[in-house]
Amino acid sequence: MVTPKPDELKAALAVAQKAALLGAKAIALGYWDRDLTVRHKGPIDLVTQYDLESERVIRANIQKAFPEHEFLAEEEGLTAKEALGPKWYVDPLDGTTNYVHQNPFFAVSIALAVPNPSGLMEPVVGVIHAPILREVFWAAKGLGAFRQTLGDDYAPLATSPVIPLTVSPASTLVEALVNTGFPYDVHQRVQEIVSPFARILGQVQAVRRGGAASLDLAFVAAGRSEGYFETGLKPWDVAAGVIIVQEAGGAISDYAGETYQLEKSRDILASNSRLHSKLVDILNDLTY
Ligand code: IPD
Ligand code: CA
Ligand code: CA
Repeated sequence: MVTPKPDELKAALAVAQKAALLGAKAIALGYWDRDLTVRHKGPIDLVTQYDLESERVIRANIQKAFPEHEFLAEEEGLTAKEALGPKWYVDPLDGTTNYVHQNPFFAVSIALAVPNPSGLMEPVVGVIHAPILREVFWAAKGLGAFRQTLGDDYAPLATSPVIPLTVSPASTLVEALVNTGFPYDVHQRVQEIVSPFARILGQVQAVRRGGAASLDLAFVAAGRSEGYFETGLKPWDVAAGVIIVQEAGGAISDYAGETYQLEKSRDILASNSRLHSKLVDILNDLTY
């Protein structure tokens, strides 16, 4: 499938922005109320009623606008169509552990991807909406990446400018702030996870673990960090962030520097482009 035309991308972006705002309002409500019902999907993998409510409202809005598209979301799964075509990837609350602990670093993450000629899904629209941080990030293929400040109603503030995103110009590892995250099966493979962490830590200015993969990627796009790496993520964690980083001039691959494949790659590396090969050199020869 060819990349949708600019008008089609803009229409999909508008639907994604509206759905992200509605999801963000739902989770913001629960963030302040603290009337949380926390269920364990695994020993350290949590879900609340607000994850579910956000997903419900996002699914309803996107499927109303694009009933013919596939839709994959974290909590209630896939609504499949027969032919390989456009597909939405939705994380209704990325950073649930932070959310449950009342840490404001979390977001709604929504992306539209289309299959490329080899059948790999390529994100073409992405929105990451962080209600308590009061920021929304978005991009569409060929149209750039942007951010805007939110108001008290969690919608973009009419008086705040739309700011184009550009990755950091840093060119040495010792200038680099690098983000990472840990998968929910970390207890079973601490050494495997700590090994790349230790090697990156030994060469860069600082390493951070934010707790929301979507925002880690948005921060690379915004030039607030120079790199991000993580293993074991799902496509809904990263699809929006991938297109936002690419449109801001950054690079995306797996740890080996090979093409990142949304539904297949085991790990992801994002960078400001200039540092990409240096980060691949550190991560590539890991045996895990
Ligand atoms: C998680 C966050 C976290 C990352 C985990 C993800 P969730 O998503 O993005 O930063 O380290 O691997 O699963 O469960 O909060 O949507
Ligand atoms: Ca997630
Ligand atoms: Ca989630």
